[in-house]
Amino acid sequence: MTISTPQLRAVVLGVGAYLPEKTLTNEELAKLVDTSDEWIVQRTGIKERHIAAEGETTSMLGEKAARAALANAGLSANDIDLIVVGTSTPDWTFPSTATQIQAALGIAHGVAFDLQAVCSGFVFALATAEKFLRSGSHKRALVIGAETFSRIIDWTDRTTCVLFGDGAGAMIIEAQPSQGGIDERGVLTTHLRSDGRHRAKLHVDGGPSATQTVGHLRMEGKEVFRFAVGQVTDVVKDAFAVTGLTAEDLDWFVPHQANRRIIDMSAQKLGIAPQKIIATVHLHGNTSAASVPLALAVAAADGRIKQGDLVMLEAVGGGFTWGSALIRW
Ligand code: ACO
Repeated sequence: MTISTPQLRAVVLGVGAYLPEKTLTNEELAKLVDTSDEWIVQRTGIKERHIAAEGETTSMLGEKAARAALANAGLSANDIDLIVVGTSTPDWTFPSTATQIQAALGIAHGVAFDLQAVCSGFVFALATAEKFLRSGSHKRALVIGAETFSRIIDWTDRTTCVLFGDGAGAMIIEAQPSQGGIDERGVLTTHLRSDGRHRAKLHVDGGPSATQTVGHLRMEGKEVFRFAVGQVTDVVKDAFAVTGLTAEDLDWFVPHQANRRIIDMSAQKLGIAPQKIIATVHLHGNTSAASVPLALAVAAADGRIKQGDLVMLEAVGGGFTWGSALIRW
């Protein structure tokens, strides 16, 4: 008997996304708080965001994104044996949003769980699921980032309410045999970091244990900006160091869609050419854990990201948490 598995790699089979129907434009926001389209676009690049309808929860958005990813992969829900959901806005304190999506998809086998890393949630969920697949314990994973940040926004605070929106994105990965080459398809490497000393800079001022309330998002915008541009690029450099690849080798850079200025400055710092940046932040604002798979789904659907392309994902979120994932698509 042998207990070791042959070398496996997590290969992307499909991606999908969902945005709630209702949009909220900068002009509409300017009627709620003292702001303007000009200020928001100049500081962030955001034009509009989507807002979940009353009663529409994170798991409902996640289920729709999951169904889109399943269709894109040509699979049915029962082909999935692992679901990992990155979210900071779960339907309930418990059970997990992942189990609610599992049930909504009609899956009663395998395992589903949530993971919380705020805006880095999808990259953390992907890195986790990828390790499960490489171990041989599971075959096909649904990795989801889904959020309803509209529910934790203080809609009277112009410094935060203009930045965020609701949405969900999903990716399906499958364990496939690999020789370990950098030209073979699949997740090549992932790098995760966190530093809990930064709580005050980006947090929610409520929670079941601390206040028995849901709370609202609070942020020191300048500090977050400084950290996002100053520090986060280290995980991308780690991915290059491990693989021997460089910014020149990349086909696409798909960072967390928080702010166009952060995206552009990060790419510039890393030496990534502007035409390799996938940016969709103007369409949906900062959707936290949903933002990276939303951007991936757009770029895969419009034909920019193709099989064999080298794609770098990068994200940063509250905590702080940050991470990268380098994928041969
Ligand atoms: N409309 C108009 N004016 C505004 C608005 C607004 N929506 N918000 C703030 N202002 C004002 C401020 O009051 C300030 O006025 P003052 O000079 O009279 O005091 C002025 O604009 C400048 O404010 P700053 O905070 O200095 O503006 P800054 O250029 O830093 O931009 C921003 C603010 C866009 C929030 C920027 O700091 C940023 O993008 N930070 C990163 C935020 C982010 O990406 N967070 C998500 C991280 S991921 C996660 O985990 C959730």
